Amino acid sequence: MGIGDRLCYGGDYNPEQWPARVWAEDVALMRQARVTLVTVGVFAWSRLEPAPGRYTFDWLDDVLDLLHTGGIRVALATPTASPPPWFSLAHPGALPVTADGVRLHHGSRDTYCAATPAYRTAALRIAAALADRYAHHPAVALWHVHNEYGTTCHCEHTARAFRRWLTARHGDLAGLNDAWVTSFWGQHYSDWAQVSTPRATQYLANPGQLLDFRRFWSDTLLAAYTEQRDRLRAANPAIPVTTNYVLGDWVPVDHARWATEVDLVAVDHYPSAVDGAAEEQTALVADLARGWARHAAGRRPVTAPPPAGLPGTAGAWLLMESAPNQIHTAGRMHTKEPGRMLRHSLGHVARGSHGAMFFQWRAPAGGAERFHSALVPHAGPDSRVFREAVELGAALDRLGEVRGTVEASVALVVDAASGWALRHPGLPSTRLGHHEEVAAVHRALWRAGFGCDTVTAGDPLDGYRLLVLPALYLVDDATAGWLSGYVRGGGHLLATYLSGAADEHARVRLGGYPGALRDLLGVLAEEFHPLADDDHVRLDDGGTGRIWAETLRLSGADTVASYAGGVLDGRPAVTRHRAGAGAAWYVSTRPDGATYRGLLDTVARTAGVAPVCATAPEGVEAVRRRDEDASWLFLFNHTDREQRVPARGVELLSAKPVEAAVTLPPGGVAVLRERTG
Ligand code: GLA
Repeated sequence: MGIGDRLCYGGDYNPEQWPARVWAEDVALMRQARVTLVTVGVFAWSRLEPAPGRYTFDWLDDVLDLLHTGGIRVALATPTASPPPWFSLAHPGALPVTADGVRLHHGSRDTYCAATPAYRTAALRIAAALADRYAHHPAVALWHVHNEYGTTCHCEHTARAFRRWLTARHGDLAGLNDAWVTSFWGQHYSDWAQVSTPRATQYLANPGQLLDFRRFWSDTLLAAYTEQRDRLRAANPAIPVTTNYVLGDWVPVDHARWATEVDLVAVDHYPSAVDGAAEEQTALVADLARGWARHAAGRRPVTAPPPAGLPGTAGAWLLMESAPNQIHTAGRMHTKEPGRMLRHSLGHVARGSHGAMFFQWRAPAGGAERFHSALVPHAGPDSRVFREAVELGAALDRLGEVRGTVEASVALVVDAASGWALRHPGLPSTRLGHHEEVAAVHRALWRAGFGCDTVTAGDPLDGYRLLVLPALYLVDDATAGWLSGYVRGGGHLLATYLSGAADEHARVRLGGYPGALRDLLGVLAEEFHPLADDDHVRLDDGGTGRIWAETLRLSGADTVASYAGGVLDGRPAVTRHRAGAGAAWYVSTRPDGATYRGLLDTVARTAGVAPVCATAPEGVEAVRRRDEDASWLFLFNHTDREQRVPARGVELLSAKPVEAAVTLPPGGVAVLRERTG
């Protein structure tokens, strides 16, 4: 599959919010900024179908023609994330119900239940109408189904669908009772009609029920997506279909599983931090997206090449939304400093995104998100943000040649179900979290300059020298076998606390923690010691741990670091176990930043992991893309001082040759086509 020679650049375009006279100016400004792709129609259902079955496509015809004439491609959205008011009034039973039993009303967006037949029928009908009318329109390059699937519901339709899903998963009630351990607190079910979604209840809810509901709901939303996808695909198999993932530590769906059903993984990313942590979050999200994209690769027999300017299916992904300027954190909006839009965008491109897209093109005068930033802000095009948008378009235009895989010798296991399960009530600490552990170790890897891929259990691991399990709480027998095979075959594994403690039904594995991994890790934890927010443990190598500690017993492993002081004084904290041709390391606490960095340096040295660019100074991020013939080195200066990095090649943003070193101004970015030899 070929990859188009221009990166995608643009964003959500909502012409329905503006009089037609603004559209021509929009297209002129898009051309000035070298926009290549815009998402149209995301929330336009009420403007496309103002009454049941009555369609008003004339304005959309005009918009698509105008964009096509301007040379701008379209990601045409199905508007099903925002049903019109007439729909809610005609089908009150399709409005979502909260866990407390409150039925929500229209007046925002996402006011539907995805398990309700009336909603699914109406959503498929408007998707089909769009497919029939636009599947062969020359502007349409991509279908963008819905927007950020991530709602939930507890209505009766959902409960019935949940029971059907549970029957398929557990076979019969005996299987369900066993998986959910309903013998505890007398929850034994004797009739399927007694089983409901996990509605608000008196005290701690059943963990098996909570976990299965998350899995079921992810599958339900996926079915809502795939039925639209199939209809769109049938109208023209050459147009790829996707939906944009919403991210967040609440993890709405199992993105890895979804990735096998999209032609292009598309993610929306709004860092929740405004300081340097935003750069770390950018790197993590891009590494996650690339991991999901590998799942999408090759699953769909492609019947036609992708339209020019869009990636093929093989491992490509796209940053579908990000914020040009202000982001909302901690109750107020923060302005992005000059240069940061470029740095974040290229941070995604470095890690495999086929471009940078934004929410949104033009800032609206009203509506709920009237103060959300836009490429054309309220001030209009004579503004700092629009000038930076023009610079970004020019920069992206110069990077069309960049391709190939992202260099990584570390793999990080990410698991949606472990994320859900470590949010359950009744755990030993409310501070636990799989995604927090993923972020903590990714941050340490990022700071050490090690390239990292994210994987899910069962993925091929060839070429990775180190595999990291960050609190992979749920481990089934197949995953335990996969891990053991990797280590015994010569790999290095670093597992952090609670990994393997429970099975796929969130039942604790008996015999001592970390359950499924005891033999591989050569340790047994009898007790755990959750730490208070302001508490920490000290290690005898000078390190510090937080959140968690354990009473560890060695059963084959060697001690790498011990606890120092307190009740665990002298007991192992970090261990290493030789197994087959490899080694399995265990970390029984959450090392703080410097401690993690030191530990990773030790593990990396033993495992043969090297930084992407050993000569990059502290604070300069280096990412390398490579194919058979060439390599490209992205350098990001996250410091407030000028930095120099030895390198040779051509710097693509300035089109200047580099003979000895690149000089990066504070906050600067360089992209080198490298010359070796
Ligand atoms: C999400 C949505 C957009 C918009 C942005 C900004 O990513 O997809 O429609 O709401 O958030 O809040």
